[in-house]
Amino acid sequence: MNSVTISNTSTSTGERMHQVEMPTFGLGVYLMGEPGECKNSVLYALEQGYRMIDTAMAYGNEDEVGQAIRESGIPREEIFVVTKLRRPHSNSYEETIERCQQSLENLGLDYMDLYLVHAPPEDPDARAPVWQGMEKCLDNGWTRSIGVSNYGAHHLDAMRSYAGLMPSVNQVEISPWLQRNALRAAIKEVGAVPMAYSPLARGHKVDDPGICEIAESVGCTPAQAAIKWCLDVGAITIPKSSNPLRISENLGSLEVDLSGKEAELAALEESYVSGWDPTSEP
Ligand SMILES: NC(=O)c1ccc[n+]([C@@H]2O[C@H](COP(=O)([O-])OP(=O)(O)OC[C@H]3O[C@@H](n4cnc5c(N)ncnc54)[C@H](OP(=O)(O)O)[C@@H]3O)[C@@H](O)[C@H]2O)c1
Repeated sequence: MNSVTISNTSTSTGERMHQVEMPTFGLGVYLMGEPGECKNSVLYALEQGYRMIDTAMAYGNEDEVGQAIRESGIPREEIFVVTKLRRPHSNSYEETIERCQQSLENLGLDYMDLYLVHAPPEDPDARAPVWQGMEKCLDNGWTRSIGVSNYGAHHLDAMRSYAGLMPSVNQVEISPWLQRNALRAAIKEVGAVPMAYSPLARGHKVDDPGICEIAESVGCTPAQAAIKWCLDVGAITIPKSSNPLRISENLGSLEVDLSGKEAELAALEESYVSGWDPTSEP
């Protein structure tokens, strides 16, 4: 499995701190609501070779992620676990610390690998104390790295005034239909790595003629072409599936070669937001 070094850059010294190797591909587990669905999907994905799982307290399945990791028999340190602080819980320094502990309890783990603020706290005055709480969770060793999700370039820029450490990752919706060239550049500018959620636009776009044509010409499936495009532009990518065939199909995207198709893929851009988009909020 390919990996990338992520780190939290110190705002005072510019030094890259807390360097951690993170797989560039993993399983998203949003909307796995049936009892056992998440656990079975994670177990199957781990058997197939996935080594990174993206969950969130908001998804209500941190417990099943933890159960699957334990049942897999794979050493904990070989699996990269991402979870997130819920937006309604992003209110204060103290609550951030408390919720991180709750996520660890739900997961049944001693530490997580990456903890993300799920979206910019709705109250702008809460953004600094919440991030300082994240820094405390990192200091305490509860997570190996801290990052954000759904932050726009202006949210990242504002962090320079209150963060001791800049985020290692910004997880945002990225797909061939929502390419986010400017935001990806802004993420790299602060020393972070973009992480693509909804790389299949929640499944809305896998039958689109444009991607089907490209996929056919390189001998892969449309979903594989979309996922590989995200990886090729340097985004850590986390397609969701609870279907064993599609879990394997999506892993197969790592073998796809899209060279020569860059212009056709760039032309798929249509600013298509499949879910929410807090990056454009004030
Ligand atoms: N930070 C955030 O705000 C945020 C927001 C959204 C998502 N996320 C994260 O990103 C992950 C992925 O995003 P997502 O779940 O929104 O959407 P996605 O991965 O773009 O698409 C998932 C949908 O596509 C279907 N699908 C999966 N593989 C397929 C394939 N090979 N061919 C055809 N259809 C396929 C899935 O159905 P089946 O399950 O039936 O295969 C599901 O309906 C989430 O699970 C979550 O971890 C984060």
